[in-house]
Amino acid sequence: MAVKVKKIGLLTSGGDAPGMNAAIRSVVRTAVYHGVKVFGIQRGYEGLIDGEIEEMNARSVTDIIHRGGTILKTARCPAMMTAEGREKAAAVYDALKLDALMVIGGNGSLSGALELSKLGLNCIGIPGTIDLDLDCTEYTIGFDTAVNTGMKAINKIRDTSSSHERCSVVEVMGRHAGFIALWCGISGGAEEVLVPESGEVNRDAIIQLIMENRTKGKSHNMIVVAEGVGGSVQLAKDIEKITGIETRATILGHLQRGGSPTAVDRYHASVMGHEAVRVFLEGAQNRIIVYRDGKHTHVDLEEGLNYRREYDSSIYDITKILAI
Ligand code: F6P
Repeated sequence: MAVKVKKIGLLTSGGDAPGMNAAIRSVVRTAVYHGVKVFGIQRGYEGLIDGEIEEMNARSVTDIIHRGGTILKTARCPAMMTAEGREKAAAVYDALKLDALMVIGGNGSLSGALELSKLGLNCIGIPGTIDLDLDCTEYTIGFDTAVNTGMKAINKIRDTSSSHERCSVVEVMGRHAGFIALWCGISGGAEEVLVPESGEVNRDAIIQLIMENRTKGKSHNMIVVAEGVGGSVQLAKDIEKITGIETRATILGHLQRGGSPTAVDRYHASVMGHEAVRVFLEGAQNRIIVYRDGKHTHVDLEEGLNYRREYDSSIYDITKILAI
């Protein structure tokens, strides 16, 4: 009797992240190496629903390891929020006789995968988001590149801030989580880092800190704000009005989502992509590939998405000590 050839679908979903291409390359090449057929799905779940799907081979992923973005394109897919949309996606999966769907994306994208798993699909998630806001894993593809982009931007802003003896407010990405802000803040030498996890912003305390720092001989100030806190432009206006110190706000925005991935991102993406195919071949169903305690492993999709990690404020405390 002929052995059934296994087939997987592969998509990237939600906000793109540098390193997604390295993960695509890894999934495709590992699958091909093991004789598994890979179908590349365009534009995330939208392409699954619309049937925008093509078989990939080892050469389909040539020269992409160093490229930002995702060759499969990505989208946020409103249809996946409806039962009808999810049923259409499941029907395409069945029609193609797929044995698994590999989803590279963040929280929302993997939650979509969980919903599809309830319709009988076997979904394997690979964490890809610059925000690092998937609590079940200590690393998500794209984070290191985004932080390095943010830090380099802060370095440049620091030059002009120092020359003009200004206060600079730099807003970095991170919708619900302050990891990018904390890492950019500590690596960029910020005096204050505002993250959504810390609750309400105490504007008066920030202003007092700036004034105190001036009396200590600091001639310019750097404040990093997470997107989830927001209000950078208003904060800059308030600081200038109350202290009289010239203040400028810079919102880095989507700059941090692009660019060639760092070695750290390429490394995690390559190992996670490989791991996703490996666990699939072992017969695992509905898993998320995670990085924990220095190792790449996998957890149940639903348990992983429900897992909550405590916010560790000790890194914030370090930024404060280093900013004296
Ligand atoms: O992918 C994560 C993220 O970059 C968040 O930091 C940000 O809030 C969001 O995506 C922006 O999404 P969009 O590109 O859809 O505007």
